[in-house]
Amino acid sequence: MTTECPHGGRFYNALGDRLENLGRLSDIIPADVLDAWFPPAPSVLDALSDSLPWLAKTSPPVHAEPLAEALGEFLSIDKHAVLPGPGSSSLIFLALTRWLNSQTRVWIPDPGYGEYRHVANLMGAKVDGQPLWPAGGMSSIQAAIRGDYDLVVIVNPNNPTGWSATASDLVEVLSQRSPNTKIWIDEAYAAYMPEIGSLAPWAATQRGVFVSRTLSKSHSLSGLRAACLIAHPDELASLRKFMPPWSVSFPGQVASIQALREQNYYRQRYAETVATRENFTTFLVKIGFKVLASEANWILAHHDQANQVVREAESRGIYIRDPANMSSQPWPGTLRIAVRSVEETQRMGEALQQILQDLQPNFPRVS
Ligand SMILES: Cc1ncc(COP(=O)(O)O)c(C=O)c1O
Repeated sequence: MTTECPHGGRFYNALGDRLENLGRLSDIIPADVLDAWFPPAPSVLDALSDSLPWLAKTSPPVHAEPLAEALGEFLSIDKHAVLPGPGSSSLIFLALTRWLNSQTRVWIPDPGYGEYRHVANLMGAKVDGQPLWPAGGMSSIQAAIRGDYDLVVIVNPNNPTGWSATASDLVEVLSQRSPNTKIWIDEAYAAYMPEIGSLAPWAATQRGVFVSRTLSKSHSLSGLRAACLIAHPDELASLRKFMPPWSVSFPGQVASIQALREQNYYRQRYAETVATRENFTTFLVKIGFKVLASEANWILAHHDQANQVVREAESRGIYIRDPANMSSQPWPGTLRIAVRSVEETQRMGEALQQILQDLQPNFPRVS
């Protein structure tokens, strides 16, 4: 059992002990986390800069009520079915530390986003899991639903394996859940795949179904920390009272509300992300990687010398995720690369090609 923090983010090391080297953010490529590569919409930055002195020195609405209303409108659900929070990680901690203990059983995708396993382990819960690969993922979920768990976690699309399901397919499977099983659906990257839809409106009317959405990846607000949990208002009540006051900062609330008005801007960025990812996937295969998944804003790849590739890339300011700690089993040879801007992705491609050529000098160069 591991209780080690499961995150990427080695790129912080480049920023200095007191973050004195923030300027380096424009030199390095932080592709070891899946934050959006694009900036927030210009009107979001304007809203922040117009009022920043006030936003910085003033306490925000206590429970982010205006943001709950904006999220409700955006997701077409009642605002009472929305619990805003400072990032979905924070909501995971809030809920799972209340729901889990050593008597509870949890099912979590494995490999998968490490926070769930981390908190479940901290609480002493019994954790099971299966891989969610595109082939066979849904039958793993069906088995989990029949498994009499206290909590089943689904990440749609699943980071890092790339499995995804449409909202209607999931509703069909999840409708067979036992009333004793809570379901958590994490839609952190769903905005990049609008074709799969969202379970948020369904969760708002059900018992025991919780959907988390974050603006970190979809609206480029990871630094401001804004997310929400969606569930039936009665289900949220017992969590709501434990959410500390002023949890979502004033800049976070204002930026989020404005960002939700800018769907055209963000939709274009998602389409660009997919195009960049597809080109990069083709390139990675040509230079010798095996691509295991290419979804949303990441690529999961295999190479026998993945560890050396990650280390060498880091020495060039390119941070790539070794996803070993996203799996309960040893997972050698894998790496996960975030899709970045066209220019950064090209820089990553050139560096990776060079690294592979140094590691295996006979490999043909691809232009
Ligand atoms: C599946 C998944 N859920 C949630 C998060 C955390 O997002 P937030 O910034 O809202 O805490 C991540 C971050 O990598 C993630 O991959």
